[in-house]
Amino acid sequence: TWTTGNVIDEQVEKIREQVGDAKVICALSGGVDSSVAAALVHKAVGDQLTCFFIDHGLLRDGEREQVEQDYAETMGIKVVTIDESDRFVSALEGLTDPEDKRKAIGREFIRSFEDAQRKLVAELGGNGEDIKFLVQGTLYPDVVESGGGEGAANIKSHHNVGGLPEDLAFDLVEPLRTLFKDEVRAIGRKLGVPEKIVARQPFPGPGLGIRVIGEVTRENLSVLRAADAIARAELTKAGLDNEVWQMPVVLLSQVRSVGVQGDGRTYGHPIVLRPVSSEDAMTADWSRLPYDLLAKISNRITNEVQEVNRVVLDVTSKPPGTIEWE
Ligand code: XMP
Repeated sequence: TWTTGNVIDEQVEKIREQVGDAKVICALSGGVDSSVAAALVHKAVGDQLTCFFIDHGLLRDGEREQVEQDYAETMGIKVVTIDESDRFVSALEGLTDPEDKRKAIGREFIRSFEDAQRKLVAELGGNGEDIKFLVQGTLYPDVVESGGGEGAANIKSHHNVGGLPEDLAFDLVEPLRTLFKDEVRAIGRKLGVPEKIVARQPFPGPGLGIRVIGEVTRENLSVLRAADAIARAELTKAGLDNEVWQMPVVLLSQVRSVGVQGDGRTYGHPIVLRPVSSEDAMTADWSRLPYDLLAKISNRITNEVQEVNRVVLDVTSKPPGTIEWE
């Protein structure tokens, strides 16, 4: 029978078997999945684990600081932050196709970790042969949607599955590979992962890189980051964080529309709000957020983010729409 206790015991055993005495590094994103994966591996092999947090420059406002604080304070797991924003933004230059973007991000993630591995080897001494495991919080839906499951179609390459380079220098440790999000949350709670992290809404590994439709540039990212911060703050203020599975905020950087502000004509970009409710992200419905909240978000974004002159609401379920726009 499926109990969180059984799954934990089973996975801890499997991890110990796979890893032995080797050192393990973890690709921590700050989200539920990688946090719970890290907690499981930490339980299994303790200090053999070192976690890295890659700041890929595609994070939301305040996210890096939040992650650094949360892990230091609550999980007792050592986290090393690495600033790789230049690398990712350069890799995305000129790319507009969603799969090209996803693959570039996946590739740079792994390259970043290979560099992290080299640094760690230099720090710890030794020949590096014993640091060859990389923990990832890959879930069952990630595997299925990237075409890894039996008979599954390739819908999009999740950064941690279909986007991996072929010359990968790590063996992957993926203890959540057969699980759904709600199961992962239950396991996290049982392991003592703080509620603040366990209850966090999903945020995709490729971050804002797949929420800027069109080319990802520093300018586009900063417009989206500002709009996203407003939308999230208002959702939280309205007390609706737990009602909503997640609310992607999307910048249509290739679209402009005419508007008017003060006595002037504007020709700015639209922002899309994509609040959804879901059980497991395999299917989803658009969230019926209160009109007053939508009005507040729209007013604030168009007033405070100069490049945006229109806010639109996505009212598509999944299927046929996916949750993210890319
Ligand atoms: P879609 O857009 O496929 O998203 O309906 C389903 C869920 O997965 C998240 N998502 C990702 N998570 N890496 C991740 O870690 C990815 O590459 C990725 N792509 C989508 C999305 O936010 C939603 O929760």
